[in-house]
Amino acid sequence: MEIIIQPTYAKLVAVSAEIVRDALLKKPNLVLGLATGSTPIGLYEALIRMHKTDGLDFSEVTTFNLDEYVGIPPNHPYSYHTFMETHFFSAINIPSENCHIPQSTAVAHEEFCERYEATIVAAGGIDIQILGIGKDGHIGFNEPSSSLGSRTRIKTLTQSTLEANAPHFGDSVDAVPKMAITMGVGTIMDAKQCLLLASGESKAAAIAHAVEGPITAEVPASVLQMHPRTIVVIDEAAALQLKRVDYYKQVYANKQKLLSSG
Ligand code: PGA
Repeated sequence: MEIIIQPTYAKLVAVSAEIVRDALLKKPNLVLGLATGSTPIGLYEALIRMHKTDGLDFSEVTTFNLDEYVGIPPNHPYSYHTFMETHFFSAINIPSENCHIPQSTAVAHEEFCERYEATIVAAGGIDIQILGIGKDGHIGFNEPSSSLGSRTRIKTLTQSTLEANAPHFGDSVDAVPKMAITMGVGTIMDAKQCLLLASGESKAAAIAHAVEGPITAEVPASVLQMHPRTIVVIDEAAALQLKRVDYYKQVYANKQKLLSSG
């Protein structure tokens, strides 16, 4: 795992946007795995700026979102379909047919989940999967106890996740859908690269468990320790409970030196 610690959320966003931009410049038909939640919003804003000011081109990009609530329609104001349209898709030049998001209202859930997996494979697999992390260590909506080999399926959300997401539903925990369709942990692990973002002290324990704790289904993000190309980009507040902060900073500084020396 490469752990990049930045002083602020703005710097975290800048570093992660550069990683995505560089990959897109190398491979115009990049397959991006996308996440919702408050953390990646700054990354989407930075990519939109790059599109508008430098002409960063998304016309050949394909995207797959991690998850969607079950039981609310795609046009619901707090659906992840609406989130992605508002925060990213409407502001870049990506063809709508290239954007894939699990369907919240899919009746034949199992068939839908299998097709979602097959569509990812048909697209050549995900090149970069953007991830947030829940306070309970979830990635996507893979809550603690999720099989580390799980595939796209329906999950029931934990109380901690319902409470974290209540502000998006008029501060009412009862209004938050109780289930979601989510890529599995195994689906995420199939991505060629994972880019996990976390900001703020409320994520410090989850980050410490995921990065330095044992690999366990209790902390689904900990499985990323087994992923050959995961970059964790966090701010100082989210790094507060890590033991090896100095070492991670040294590793990053050395890598930057190596890159700048050509
Ligand atoms: P957040 O959510 O970015 O809104 O904190 C992350 C997550 O729950 O995966």
